[in-house]
Amino acid sequence: MRISQTGDSKFGFKNANEERLTVQYLQEANPIVSPHPGTDVVKGLTQTPKTLSARYFYDDRGSELFEKICELPEYYLTRTETAILQQCASEIAQVTGACELVELGSGSSTKTRILLNAYNQLGYSIRYLPIDVSAGMLESSAKQLLVDYPSLEVHALAGTYESALAQLEPTQLPSRMIFFIGSSLGNLNPQECEAFLSKITDALQVGEYFLLGVDLQKPKHILEAAYNDSQKVTAAFNLNMLEHLNWRFDGNFDTTQFSHLAFYNEIEQRIEMHLSSLRSQTVELRALNLNVNFAPAETIFTEISRKFDLHAIQQELKALHLVPQKVWTDENKWFGLLLCQLQA
Ligand code: TRP
Repeated sequence: MRISQTGDSKFGFKNANEERLTVQYLQEANPIVSPHPGTDVVKGLTQTPKTLSARYFYDDRGSELFEKICELPEYYLTRTETAILQQCASEIAQVTGACELVELGSGSSTKTRILLNAYNQLGYSIRYLPIDVSAGMLESSAKQLLVDYPSLEVHALAGTYESALAQLEPTQLPSRMIFFIGSSLGNLNPQECEAFLSKITDALQVGEYFLLGVDLQKPKHILEAAYNDSQKVTAAFNLNMLEHLNWRFDGNFDTTQFSHLAFYNEIEQRIEMHLSSLRSQTVELRALNLNVNFAPAETIFTEISRKFDLHAIQQELKALHLVPQKVWTDENKWFGLLLCQLQA
């Protein structure tokens, strides 16, 4: 593990603001490049049905496309969650009081600002710990926060949720709130979800908080439109995974020969994202010494996005001692925000 005080800024000057920033690079920060790059790709593409790990979405272009998805008219999730946060941020701050704010998958930290403003307005001391696998995005958004919040201290952790949560030190502040918004919990299957939530409870002391944003069940046509936008940004995002594999593993995927496929699986209550081969074809990934054959219409499973029942998720959290204290939703009940407290 390396801790760098970002005085050694890439731009060659030392910014006084950066005294308030520490960046910690966790060793397993990039599971794509270590310890055995691409073993997951080989495994996923040689099994039936074929799969690829969602981590291949987020190269630089993928992160850019994801930011665009969040602004699409059909993608109601970001807009709805933002509106809920604006309504309840001050109530959240009043419940937790001064605390350490730990954000999982902070990305551009846009929604975070709503919370930071609420704590500021109430005069509560905070410290912000963003966690993200994308070190570039993490550093640039942290630096922007230092400019906009002149007394904020930021300790950024570049790495996976698992490693970052396991390495959190006890907070000096009276409390801690871990937050996981954007319905990213829905991208985990039920087993992964359970393992993830137990890492959350391990990282909290009794009395501390977990803020969770989840997308809720709703009519199928609304869900399917959100993942099949008319500008085809989501399609580009899904297909970009193949471009990512091309540059990383010296591959020859032709993205015009695959199509984006997203639909709601009502039995599993989840959106499924696939890439479908438009013809019979063989793709080579030279760096992995791998040839992959595709039959016409054969698919690669790339992502799930589970849609939750607000009552059921509360019961699940409660069973793990993460007791919902306050639950907010929008007027359509499309999205839920839950403030939970770890109880003994
Ligand atoms: N957490 C987001 C969601 O489930 C991730 C997401 C949005 C996504 N659009 C996507 C993942 C398209 C893969 C493909 O809504």
